[in-house]
Amino acid sequence: MIDPHDGGAGREPLQQAEVVEDGPALRTELIHIARTTVARGLNVNKSGNVSVRCARGGIEGFLITPTAIDYRDLTEQDLVFIGLKDGRCSGKKAPSSEWRIHLDILRARREFGAIVHTHSPAATALSCHGLDLPPFHYMIAVCGGPDVRCARYATFGTQELSDHALAALVDRKACLLCNHGSVGCGDDLAQALSIAQEVEHLAHIYLLARQLGDPLRLNDEQMRAVIESFRTSYGQR
Ligand code: 13P
Repeated sequence: MIDPHDGGAGREPLQQAEVVEDGPALRTELIHIARTTVARGLNVNKSGNVSVRCARGGIEGFLITPTAIDYRDLTEQDLVFIGLKDGRCSGKKAPSSEWRIHLDILRARREFGAIVHTHSPAATALSCHGLDLPPFHYMIAVCGGPDVRCARYATFGTQELSDHALAALVDRKACLLCNHGSVGCGDDLAQALSIAQEVEHLAHIYLLARQLGDPLRLNDEQMRAVIESFRTSYGQR
């Protein structure tokens, strides 16, 4: 029985992400990443939300974008700190309506340090058909496994949506949210953004490929070889 709260399959959590201290530099970086989601076409106006794991006075938690404030207007003081243990918010503004997704992922998946949620067009189009991203391209493996699952639909901002997202993220760094968007997770803000962008790029290619019919899929063995290569040998040493 897979327990989404331990990241999947009862395995030991991966290495804990580094917990940095809340401070001006981290807040500036978070705002920069939120604005970058718009600059790169992953979000428009005020869609999506961003969080980063951090500590404040010995209390572990995370910073998150406030709800319904255009990223262009955000200041460092608008970000909200939420304690990981008690879920208590501190800040002048109300947190993103999706704070439960961020809280539940950062609680359950100690290896993640940041989360980027988007309404990026291709990923969202796919999610509107309730479709997973299958192993049609080897780069799917950067999201942690042979596919990117689409979480079941629930109203935005609900615990139900968070539960579905956590289940779809078992052994993965990303998922789609049915009729809604995508979630990307990483060690840090830059990585979470990169995963969200990779999901969007792959979804775009998949939608193009589907115009000629159902594309070829890599089999389990082929995907295992890619996942292993990403884990052990690919990249600069
Ligand atoms: P927030 O402004 O509350 O973060 O909501 C945006 C969003 O994308 C909800 O899923």
